Amino acid sequence: MIRIGIVGTSSISARFAEAVTEVDGVEISRVASRDAERARAFAAEIGVPGTAEGLSALLAAPDVDAVYLASPNSLHLAQIDEAVGAGIPVLVEKPAVLTARDWDAAASRARERGVVLLEAMRSAYDPGLAAVRELLPRLGTIRRVALRYEKRSARYDHVLAGEQTNIFDPALGGSALRDLGVYPLHVLVRLFGAPNSVHGVRVGIAAGTDGAGSALAAYDGFVADVAWSKITDTALPSEIQGEEASLVIDAIDAPRRLVLTPRGGRPEEVRVEAPRNPMVGEVGFFRDAIAGRDTAADHEATAQTLRLVDALLDVPLS
Ligand SMILES: NC(=O)c1ccc[n+]([C@@H]2O[C@H](COP(=O)([O-])OP(=O)(O)OC[C@H]3O[C@@H](n4cnc5c(N)ncnc54)[C@H](OP(=O)(O)O)[C@@H]3O)[C@@H](O)[C@H]2O)c1
Repeated sequence: MIRIGIVGTSSISARFAEAVTEVDGVEISRVASRDAERARAFAAEIGVPGTAEGLSALLAAPDVDAVYLASPNSLHLAQIDEAVGAGIPVLVEKPAVLTARDWDAAASRARERGVVLLEAMRSAYDPGLAAVRELLPRLGTIRRVALRYEKRSARYDHVLAGEQTNIFDPALGGSALRDLGVYPLHVLVRLFGAPNSVHGVRVGIAAGTDGAGSALAAYDGFVADVAWSKITDTALPSEIQGEEASLVIDAIDAPRRLVLTPRGGRPEEVRVEAPRNPMVGEVGFFRDAIAGRDTAADHEATAQTLRLVDALLDVPLS
């Protein structure tokens, strides 16, 4: 049994703990918070036996074999380094770190020490992505890929009220690109590899970061456009267009309804059975990685995604 310690006491940690109950061979043993009382209250709420005050205490606990980091983005790198230094496998929330350079350094330290390091990019381990990949050969030569993740955040109300909030706080690595844009960018590189070039536009908000944006990426023979937003909702799906057919994807982070329309033919619907919790796939993969499953392709996909994020964050806010 792999005993996982959680860092962070927000709703995503609760969802993760619930996913762990769906996967054999793993359990949550402790929850860490900066505040001992908050750790106790959260552990009681999600039914976890142990607590710790801070990451160092968690790593020193005798019943913690691995950690899940769900802290603000800017803290990930130091927390990864501390855990890897202690020889403890790490599953870190997306974006794994702030830059591709930081990722390359963290990943190479983890590899040198033989410690598992994996980004908790749930869409990469979702059955919906596998279903999309399976249908791609039927599309013929790919000419356009349009992926989007646009969902207004309740926390945008804080920004509108003149307050700062972690997810939009540049000091904590917050931005819509880093929060939601990474999903379609990650799917893009998982399906098609790194593009030849990328250009972007970022829509600035009062918090001092992007609230929305678009990227245009060039591949040999096709174009990809990627949209993200945390300040508006979309009614549009994602789509991949080939010369023989188009494929419409309802939600790029967790595809559940795929519609393939052959040229001149009738639409065919493919339903993907949803796991009870969308984080189940990443939990299972993390467990398997600790047991020796190769993570080289995962490291590369994280690196390629972060290289795109680096390039897009260089674009001034409009
Ligand atoms: N996979 C998904 O679907 C998904 C969904 C949401 C978020 N995420 C990712 O999960 C991570 C956490 O996001 P979130 O929105 O949950 O973040 P958050 O609520 O701002 O912070 C998460 C936890 O970190 C601690 N924390 C908060 N502010 C801090 C600060 N200034 N310094 C140190 N610790 C602080 C808090 O725990 P304590 O106060 O108890 O220490 C808090 O519960 C991010 O990387 C995000 O991208 C992933």
